[in-house]
Amino acid sequence: MVSGDGPPDPPDPPDPPDPRDPLDPRALRADAPLLDAWLSFTAGAAAGAVRPFTIPGHKQRHDMVGAVVAGDVPLYAGLDTMKLARGVLADAERRAAAFWGADWCRFSVGGSTHGNQALALAVGRPGDEVVVGRTLHRSLLLGIVLAGLRPVWVRPGVDAATGLPGSMPADAVRRALAEHPAAVAVMVGDPTYVGTTGDVAGLAAVAHEAGVPLVVDAAWGAHFGLHPSLPPHALAAGADAMVISAHKTLPAVSQGAVVLARNGRLDAGRLERAFEATHTTSPSGAILASIDAARALLERSGPELAEGLVRRVARARHRLEGVPGLVVLRGPLADGSGVEAAKLVVLLPATGASGVAVEQGLLDAGFPVELADRDTIVAVVTIADDDRAVDAFAAELAAQIERHRGPARPVVPGAAWAVQPEQVLDPREAFFAPAESVPAGSAVGRVCAELVAPYPPGVPVLAPGERITAAALDALLAARRAGARIAYAADPTLATLAVVRAQ
Ligand SMILES: Cc1ncc(COP(=O)(O)O)c(C=O)c1O
Repeated sequence: MVSGDGPPDPPDPPDPPDPRDPLDPRALRADAPLLDAWLSFTAGAAAGAVRPFTIPGHKQRHDMVGAVVAGDVPLYAGLDTMKLARGVLADAERRAAAFWGADWCRFSVGGSTHGNQALALAVGRPGDEVVVGRTLHRSLLLGIVLAGLRPVWVRPGVDAATGLPGSMPADAVRRALAEHPAAVAVMVGDPTYVGTTGDVAGLAAVAHEAGVPLVVDAAWGAHFGLHPSLPPHALAAGADAMVISAHKTLPAVSQGAVVLARNGRLDAGRLERAFEATHTTSPSGAILASIDAARALLERSGPELAEGLVRRVARARHRLEGVPGLVVLRGPLADGSGVEAAKLVVLLPATGASGVAVEQGLLDAGFPVELADRDTIVAVVTIADDDRAVDAFAAELAAQIERHRGPARPVVPGAAWAVQPEQVLDPREAFFAPAESVPAGSAVGRVCAELVAPYPPGVPVLAPGERITAAALDALLAARRAGARIAYAADPTLATLAVVRAQ
C-alpha cells in the first residue's frame, strides 16, 4: 500500500517458484505477460515504488474503503503504460489465439455479454437476417437489438424425459437457411445452460454450405477441448467465432471472457470495431491478467486438471444416482444431444422435493448453487474444486433431497425452454417503440416491448417484438410462483407488462 510518509523499505525478494508444482502461480508468470505485469505492479505499489497520478481514484490505498480495492490495477498506466508501449495485452491475446486455434482474439472485461454483443455487431448490417437459436441468452438478444438484426428463430427440441432443451438440430438450421437465403450468419448457444451439447461440426457444415459463418455462444464451454471426455471447443469443431466466459468454468475473475474468431467468413477489422464499440475504455487489469493466467494454466496442466474434474463429476453423478427418484442428467438424450461431463444437473420431480427448498437447505449449509427452480438443480463444478468439496456437496445435496421428499410430480419443461415465439416486429423496432404498461391479463395478444427472463438461465420467455401469448404469460407466472427471479421486466411481479403502444 502507498502511504504518504517517505520512501518505504524495499520489499523482500519473492520466493522462487516451485518448478514441481504445476499450480504455483509464480511459475505461470513466465508464460503469462499480463499476470507478470499485474504481479510487478502490485508488488511495486505495495512497496511504495508506484505513486500513480492516474485513475483509479483509490490510488492503491487500502486504508480508505478497505481491501475491497486490493488488486485493482488498470490496464492503462497499470499493466502497461498509458500508450500501451509494452504490448502486453496484445502478447497475451496472441497466446490465447494460438492456444484456441483462432486468428483473432480479444479479452473482454464485460463477460460473454459483451462478447455476444460484439459478435452481433460484427456479422451483418441493420435489417439483415440471422438464423438464431431461440434458447439464446438475453445478451445475444440485446446484441441483436443493438445491431438491428432480424432473427429467424430455430428451436431445439425439449427432451420429454427431462423437460430440458437439447441441442440445435442441424436440419432445422438447414431449413431456416433455405427459407431465408439472405441470412448472413447462424448464431447458436452451445453448450446450453444445462450442459447439453450438439453437433457443432454439423452446424458449421450447414452454415458453410450456405456461405455464412457459424457463431457460437460458448459462455459455459471455456473448458471444452481439454480432455477426450469433453467436447472439442467450438472453433475446433469448425465454428467461425466463439465467445467463452473464462470466469464461468476457468479460474478467472468475474466478468473475464474471451472472444475468438477465424478469418475468412468474418472480417477481423469489423470484429475489432464491434468489440471496441461496446467495451469499457478502462479495463480492469486484474480481470485481464486472470484470463491470461487461466490460459497459461490450461497450457501447462489443462488435461490433468480436466481429468480430475471429469472424474469428480462422474463420482458425484454416481453417488446421486443412488438417491431414489432423482434423475441425474447424462447424455445422450433421446434426440442424440450430449451432456457435457462437467456440469452437475439433477431433476427432482420424481423425488417430490422442491428445488427451491433444497436450494435453501444447501445455502444454509454453505453450498450456493448456480440454478435451482422447482424441478432442477444446476451445480457448476470446475477445475478449482477438489475431491473433498465435490463429495461433500453431493452428500449434502442427497441429504437435502431426503429432507424435502414429497409426492412425485410430472416433469414440466421450464418456462425458458418451451417458448414458441411469434415475431410481430423486429426486436430493435419494438425496443425503441413507444410503450405502455398494461395489466398482464390484458397484455395477452399485444406486442411485447420488453425482455422478460427467469434468471437463471436468462433465456427470454418474452422478447421485444414478440406477441404475448397466454402460454408465455402462464409459464412466467408459474416460474415466479415456483420461486424464480423474474429479471429485466419493468415490473418483476408480472402484475403489468410493457407493450408496444397501439398507434
Ligand atoms: C448462454 C450464456 N451466454 C452468455 C452469458 C453471459 O455471460 P457473462 O455472465 O459472462 O456476461 C450467459 C450467462 O450466464 C449464458 O448463460
